[in-house]
Amino acid sequence: MSVKEFVLKKLEENRGIPLSGEAIANSLSVSRAAVWKAVRALEAEGYHIEAVPNQGYTLCTDNDLLSTQGILPYLNPPLKSREIRVFPCLPSTNQEAKRMALESAEQGSAVLAEEQSAGRGRLGRSFFSPRGNGLYMSVILRPKADVSNAVLITTAAAVGVCRAIDTVTGRHPQIKWVNDLYLNEKKICGILTEAVTNFETGVIESVVVGIGINANTTDFPEEIRATATSLALELGHPVCRAAVINGVMCAFEEYYGRY
Ligand code: BTN
Repeated sequence: MSVKEFVLKKLEENRGIPLSGEAIANSLSVSRAAVWKAVRALEAEGYHIEAVPNQGYTLCTDNDLLSTQGILPYLNPPLKSREIRVFPCLPSTNQEAKRMALESAEQGSAVLAEEQSAGRGRLGRSFFSPRGNGLYMSVILRPKADVSNAVLITTAAAVGVCRAIDTVTGRHPQIKWVNDLYLNEKKICGILTEAVTNFETGVIESVVVGIGINANTTDFPEEIRATATSLALELGHPVCRAAVINGVMCAFEEYYGRY
């Protein structure tokens, strides 16, 4: 783990509580200057870090940038050992997950991005994926059973996302068979399940489930404004995306296990 990753981990674990640069430096056996440099680098990436006089650094509670270190404290214990990669921007998390699957990433590994420059939906459509407010994640699965009925995997994901949204927000989305979730008759989530096939054997080796949730989006392009909504628009306030991620991973795990 780099100094920057370690500093972020410490700040995330102690959100709102100032940590002295000296204490962080000592626990990592590096200089205070190295900690200061890491804090500057994190700020340049968009983290809101306050320097409290005579007390130290604190990650502001309004900070909602996604990072592996920031997601981990929200995850239920069995999920904490999962590989979770978070990128500032990707063309598509499904594309990256498929690449990782070919490099033998483990069952349950997840890829997230703050923004997708070419987010994909079903039937060649695009998925609106603006920076910093949506939830774009792909989970890698290695089904042992026959995946000819892959629709059941999508169903497990859809039911899992419904339950996660219900748990975190108290709202009950409805599944529009089988890939879309709606709240108040507007789309809040889309799911794209794709197979990764071994080119030589033709065998499906893994499946990537891509989940796109309109979490804190407040402005949609004209063409989908009438048909799309977000959790923030429905609730009247933003949601903690890391809590939604935990909910989705826990619930999906359970329903996929049944599949
Ligand atoms: C749809 O609405 O037709 C499905 C949308 C699926 C969007 C998600 S966002 C994460 C993952 N990466 C993608 O490029 N697509 C899926």
